Amino acid sequence: MTRPTGDLDGFRLWPGLLDRAAQEALRDEVFARMRGGPLYTPRMPKSGAPMSVRMTNFGALGWVTDKERGYRYQETHPDTGKPWPEMPEMVLELWRKHSGYAADPEACLVNLYEGDARMGLHVDSDEEDWDAPVLSISLGDTAVFRIGGVLRSDPTRSVRLASGDVCMLGGSSRRAYHGVDRILPGTSRLLPKGGRINLTVRRVTVPR
Ligand code: SIN
Ligand code: MN
Repeated sequence: MTRPTGDLDGFRLWPGLLDRAAQEALRDEVFARMRGGPLYTPRMPKSGAPMSVRMTNFGALGWVTDKERGYRYQETHPDTGKPWPEMPEMVLELWRKHSGYAADPEACLVNLYEGDARMGLHVDSDEEDWDAPVLSISLGDTAVFRIGGVLRSDPTRSVRLASGDVCMLGGSSRRAYHGVDRILPGTSRLLPKGGRINLTVRRVTVPR
């Protein structure tokens, strides 16, 4: 049996795909939608430990986690009980143009990184459909993103994701470990209070 190694086949990065005007327009759409689906602090399954990012979602389905029920997708906001706000049209357009996937995405996870917020190495594995890529849009301060292979022990590499950068985990990189080591404060003036917003766009169910 061949052992998969730190293979980044299918990982794509489009540096500066969104120009400043597009970043501002998307930022404004994100903030407007957050009024109907506010940020909340997600908690780890079992321990209930808070994650350092705050989250919300746009689209038909949202990724959530809490102490009692763990990682999952659901149609409603955990605090308000209301459906998630609609996915911004710009996000849908980026997916249609760049994902190479026939069906539309169902979930747009919004992560807000402030201060020393980070995201530990993990694989996106709560989706039914692993054939669809994951598209990631960065706004605000630069992130030190880390990506490895399909095994936790695979070597990793560090990639800086700046405001307006779009990257995609497709092919074998769809199952690769990845995370965010830290955010570099003061590297962008897009967000009024600084920090970084990442939009993670995903297909969750297998299209029928
Ligand atoms: C994630 O993997 O959920 C977020 C990645 C990022 O913030 O760039
Ligand atoms: Mn992820």
